[in-house]
Amino acid sequence: MTPDSFYDTVGGHETFVRLVDVFYEGVARDDVLREMYPEQDLTGARHRLTTFLEQYWGGPTTYSQERGHPRLRMRHASYKVNPEARDRWLAHMRTALDALALPPLQEAEFWDYLERAAHSLINTFEE
Ligand code: HEM
Repeated sequence: MTPDSFYDTVGGHETFVRLVDVFYEGVARDDVLREMYPEQDLTGARHRLTTFLEQYWGGPTTYSQERGHPRLRMRHASYKVNPEARDRWLAHMRTALDALALPPLQEAEFWDYLERAAHSLINTFEE
């Protein structure tokens, strides 16, 4: 028998939708991050981040079916991801992850990934 994926363990689709919804509520109120997002309404961005995270954690592969290989560094190249943007991004994720109230083990694993991923996407130290 295949063990449940992390995706299933944390509650599947609803969990990821909730995480990304709370995250983007924060982004929408963030004057530095908000202007980086090209869309008026953040529906597309919400969908891309949700499907990406679901796929990463062993859920459906919708993201790659729709967008191909993630190549996150390349896809962030046109945005100014400096340490401040990273910290703001992570702060909204922290709030969103807290809202899920996951068991400590899953919570720690998820946060560790988000922190490392965010650090790896820094592409400038200009202010
Ligand atoms: C470090 C700070 C970060 C900033 C400032 C940032 C900013 C952005 C912006 C402005 C977009 C375009 C929105 C859109 O999809 O239209 C985007 C897309 C995206 N970001 Fe980030 N991001 C950050 C970190 C991350 C991290 C850590 C992840 C993954 C764990 C991530 C995953 C994605 C994905 C999957 C997309 C959509 C890519 C696509 O298919 O086009 N981002 N990000």
